[in-house]
Amino acid sequence: MKAAILFESLTGHTRTAGELIASNLQQEGWGITGVSPVRKPEMASIQDADMIIIGTWVHGLFVVGQAPWGLGAIAGLPAMQGKLAATFCTFALNPAKTLDKLDGAVSQLGAEVIGGLALHRSKLAAHSEEFAARLIANVPVRA
Ligand SMILES: Cc1cc2nc3c(=O)[nH]c(=O)nc-3n(C[C@H](O)[C@H](O)[C@H](O)COP(=O)(O)O)c2cc1C
Repeated sequence: MKAAILFESLTGHTRTAGELIASNLQQEGWGITGVSPVRKPEMASIQDADMIIIGTWVHGLFVVGQAPWGLGAIAGLPAMQGKLAATFCTFALNPAKTLDKLDGAVSQLGAEVIGGLALHRSKLAAHSEEFAARLIANVPVRA
């Protein structure tokens, strides 16, 4: 499986998570076509990938109003028909329904979203490993 990773990151946690996810997947034999920012995506990495992994961070008032940051930029990504996708977000306290909203935005690009995970910013290594393991376990076998 070949995956492209796209991240939206203000202070670096989501970028770090994307890089950790990439190395975890590589250790399991996946190819990584690129790890790039949502706002400056490596187009070839998207084109060459079977799976697009998109991550952003939770923005809100910590107990209410949580949402994925950068939905406008995500909506501006190229169409992803025929590709699988998985999502993640990093958060500090409570992600609430951030992943559902992110999944909705990625589905609008035409990708088939198979799931996602919220990663606590203070447990990025462990949660990135968990994300990669779940992704590998849940990726549908294609004919
Ligand atoms: C303005 C602002 C609002 C935030 N709101 C929330 C929130 O509502 N809930 C939460 O769990 N984390 C919230 N956070 C924490 C970020 O989601 C968390 O630090 C995230 O890992 C940042 O990712 P980044 O380092 O890639 O920018 C907020 C951070 C900022 C700067």
